Amino acid sequence: TTSSVCVLDSKDAVPVAPCGHSLNSIPGPTSWPLVGSLIELLRKGGLTRQHEALIDYHKKYGKIFKIKLGSFESVHIGAPCLLEALYRKESLYPQRLEIKPWKAYRDLRNEAYGLLIMEGKDWQRVRSAFQQKLMKPTEVAKLDGKINQVLADFVKRIERASHNGKIKDLYFELNKWSFETISLVLYDKRFGLLHQDVNEEAINFITAVKTMMSTFGMMMVTPVELHKSLNTKTWRDHTDAWDRIFSTAKLYIDKRLKRHLAKPSEDFLCDIFHHSDLSKKELYAATTELQIGGVETTANSMLWAIFNLSRNPRAQARLLQEIQAVIPIGQSPSAEHIKGMPYLKACIKESMRVTPSIPFNSRTLDKETVLGEYVLPKGTVLMINSHALGSNEEYFDDGKQFKPERWLRSRDTIKPFTYVPFGIGKRMCIGRRLAELELQLALCWLIREYEIVATDYEPVEAIHSGLLVPNRELPVAFIRR
Ligand code: HEM
Repeated sequence: TTSSVCVLDSKDAVPVAPCGHSLNSIPGPTSWPLVGSLIELLRKGGLTRQHEALIDYHKKYGKIFKIKLGSFESVHIGAPCLLEALYRKESLYPQRLEIKPWKAYRDLRNEAYGLLIMEGKDWQRVRSAFQQKLMKPTEVAKLDGKINQVLADFVKRIERASHNGKIKDLYFELNKWSFETISLVLYDKRFGLLHQDVNEEAINFITAVKTMMSTFGMMMVTPVELHKSLNTKTWRDHTDAWDRIFSTAKLYIDKRLKRHLAKPSEDFLCDIFHHSDLSKKELYAATTELQIGGVETTANSMLWAIFNLSRNPRAQARLLQEIQAVIPIGQSPSAEHIKGMPYLKACIKESMRVTPSIPFNSRTLDKETVLGEYVLPKGTVLMINSHALGSNEEYFDDGKQFKPERWLRSRDTIKPFTYVPFGIGKRMCIGRRLAELELQLALCWLIREYEIVATDYEPVEAIHSGLLVPNRELPVAFIRR
């Protein structure tokens, strides 16, 4: 059961547990030749319900279990003590699962890798070039003006797109919002996606990103080399989409560098470039991957926050009270205002706990590692089940309920390493601070102007489709206050 004892060696213990058990002895569902546990997983609701199956497996096998899907084996961890052990033993350059189709494109076109796919010392060099600007709250706070600029348009867009307060395809509208925001931050360019007549260039760019994202999944489960040598449609579409993404990104990055040639330190991206030893190629790739990392994740988190507030009018009323108390009428919310808004931050945290965008995240061990009572060999793929952690009653009482208040009680009521929607350690999401500020400011704008109401109370389920998405159009309406 999940309450089984977790053996955690102390910080200064020898790295190999004297009586450590091997990978083979980790429990898990029965594995059949060729298919592993794939059929069992399909019977449990298929890949779209895999996040729920993982919770069941943790209940059945405990804090750590092993599963094989086809030939792909991974070890799942869903307990704070194991995450903490992993964090403490983290290597210099932690790795996630490889995204081979992306690498294949870059190798083909002789482009660089970005943070999502880089490894080793190169990853660390690029990471530290961006880290200063992206992870430092005072630096990210300077982006509030740009974020607000897009939000002003977004609120108008909601007004225009609404029929009796209902927005057709709210998720798409939110994707346009986050795309526009990250593009303004990275390229200093407005694409006008929230305007009535969206221009062709903007449509091309957003469809290229969509096509790239929808074609790489297939090449993660079937060999990309095969697609490449057979020149399959998937490979051609994927390559063509990346070509369009790179050419647009390069164009706007070059323009930006040129514009700020005289005083690069005054500009967000130019400052990063001039204070690092990044090549132009690396700057292009890193910037492009920041954009890709920052669009759907942020839109998805906002979508769930809207849903959770629609179903919890009391929380929404308390949030409105905080907004009205802190932000004077007629003023745009700012990063400075947010500092004094604990309830807002709690609402976002709670929303990302009950309905996370990314239910699990991976690590590939680059050295033998002891986790609890097991010795895991180099090369083991670990899955960090953040969704299973966040929904475990052992760590969050009344865990299914949206209760922002739980984050406002004294700190020690929430166990460290139980809430990890942005990952852990050195490779944690580099866009975390920016995403949080975007979500915080967006909720201020929305809740101040609209009451978000539930239009029905039938269940809305989360299904896995890369991210966790609602299984139907959200039953919400935006009513002007
Ligand atoms: C990595 C979640 C927004 C860029 C990650 C990871 C998670 C995550 C779980 C993996 C971390 C790990 O391996 O430990 C999210 C969520 C977001 C969000 C939930 C929105 C609410 C953003 C934004 C950006 C971004 C806005 C861009 C500015 C990246 C990049 C990485 C990453 C580049 C790879 C970092 C590295 O490997 O060094 N994100 N993210 N993300 N994210 Fe985000």
